[in-house]
Amino acid sequence: MRSKISVIGSGFVGSTCAHWAASKELGDVVLIDIQGESAQGKALDLFEASPVEGFDSRIMGGADYALTKDSDVVILTAGLPRKPGMSRDDLLATNAGIVRTCVKEVVKYSPNAVLIVVSNPLDAMCHVAYEASGFPRERVLGMAGVLDSARFRSFIALELGVSVEDVQAFVFGGHGDTMVPMPRYVTVGGIPLAQLMTAERIAQLVDRTRKGGAEIVNLLKTGSAYYAPSASAVQMAEAIVRDKKRILPCAVYLQGEYGVSNLFCGVLAKLGAKGIESVPLLQLNEEEQAQFRASANAVQELVDAMEKLGGAR
Ligand code: 2OP
Repeated sequence: MRSKISVIGSGFVGSTCAHWAASKELGDVVLIDIQGESAQGKALDLFEASPVEGFDSRIMGGADYALTKDSDVVILTAGLPRKPGMSRDDLLATNAGIVRTCVKEVVKYSPNAVLIVVSNPLDAMCHVAYEASGFPRERVLGMAGVLDSARFRSFIALELGVSVEDVQAFVFGGHGDTMVPMPRYVTVGGIPLAQLMTAERIAQLVDRTRKGGAEIVNLLKTGSAYYAPSASAVQMAEAIVRDKKRILPCAVYLQGEYGVSNLFCGVLAKLGAKGIESVPLLQLNEEEQAQFRASANAVQELVDAMEKLGGAR
């Protein structure tokens, strides 16, 4: 039977998610937006591309969550994007309300789905989705690590003049300025990065990675990145619907891993049909552990601020 992937929010991120998911033939795709006709129009337009591109996916769109019934994966992109000068955290109150409303609708029709949260501020919105859905932690995860790692990998590949495919890297922590790129674990065709680049240059690429989202916001001026975020969310969806058991960096509700409890934060997770199938543990050195702890503290502060606003419920 074909899988079903629903995407909530048909803005740039959501509609581009639908595009990647359909072109990879992950299954049937549903695009939902409060602007129902716009979602319907984008879905129809994408479906009409299918004979040209040769993908067999039924694509539907609208405002009615009944369309999403029995989805295997739901990608949540609804919410406002940031503009130049704004941090992801500035979106907290508005997006918490939007995400909560959407998740409650989603669970009515797809009680067994895996939720992939993309809305910002990412880690806090994962909390909202987790609370609002009542799903187990295996079925609520956030997209940020794949994106931040993709940025890090792109910059390394560009610098070394090698294929992006040969650069393995991942980023831990929250999806904000305190994120923790892990250069000690980067390999290029199996060669440790430290053998290929100076420590100073690595530090510059780490810094560019941390500011990667803002770099795009400052160029676009009217919104934030969407090609790389949507490709990243769809890579996670693919790992789930194809039960690939991929090890990808994702925002996971930690329950003691790395000394952090009851908090979403980016770590490596194994993704398969059930969502998060395990959280393989890395041996962090003292500096990495301190950076991870600082990043988790920043996420905790945001969650606390949101709870004061009544946001996670
Ligand atoms: C980014 O980092 C939108 O948060 C997303 O570009």
